[in-house]
Amino acid sequence: MACLHLGDVAPDFAADTSEGPISFLEWKKGAWTVFFSHPGDFTPVCTTELGRVAQLADEWAKRDTKVIALSVDPVAEHHRWIPDVEEVSNTSVGYPIIADPDKKVAELYDMIHPGEGDASSVRSVFIIGPDDRIKLILIYPKSTGRNFDEILRALDALQLAETGPYATPVDWRPGERVIISTDVPTDQARERFADLDVVKPYLRTATPKT
Ligand code: BEZ
Repeated sequence: MACLHLGDVAPDFAADTSEGPISFLEWKKGAWTVFFSHPGDFTPVCTTELGRVAQLADEWAKRDTKVIALSVDPVAEHHRWIPDVEEVSNTSVGYPIIADPDKKVAELYDMIHPGEGDASSVRSVFIIGPDDRIKLILIYPKSTGRNFDEILRALDALQLAETGPYATPVDWRPGERVIISTDVPTDQARERFADLDVVKPYLRTATPKT
């Protein structure tokens, strides 16, 4: 098992999925990608989570982002479970679910945590950039369903940070002011951002240029 860090290239793998076999980096093809694991098919929290991710299809598309799930169940179980997910959340699952019964991918991404009950995967989230590098890692216990609005918000912040010298403050939402990186001296920041607010010499906010 590799210990994965932000900035690492996402490890590649081949796997079967509910939409057929894939080679991961070839499948993501340089797109932003949200790769998330869940403990198992036919479990209640997972059923709600996978339904929510399906309902958010337009939001992922707006952000040119692909989504892909994983559990250690075989592909036949995914196919039996997907209708339940679709029925419960009144949606259509339009993304692949990786089948990882031999746990090869789960181990590669350190998704199995011995302190979390059986040897199924915990609720990991990896946001991977177009450069195939890991931009964000979140790990939730099996008992706690994730908030995919937060994952969208973080994705927005990551995508914004690629467009200029920006960081995002606590609880930032798209459309709000951002922090101008300390790499930009204040005199240059004033020239670039007409509404620059110097709260502290190290905390300058402005409206980002789109
Ligand atoms: C669930 O998805 O509900 C779940 C799965 C494994 C352990 C706990 C909860």
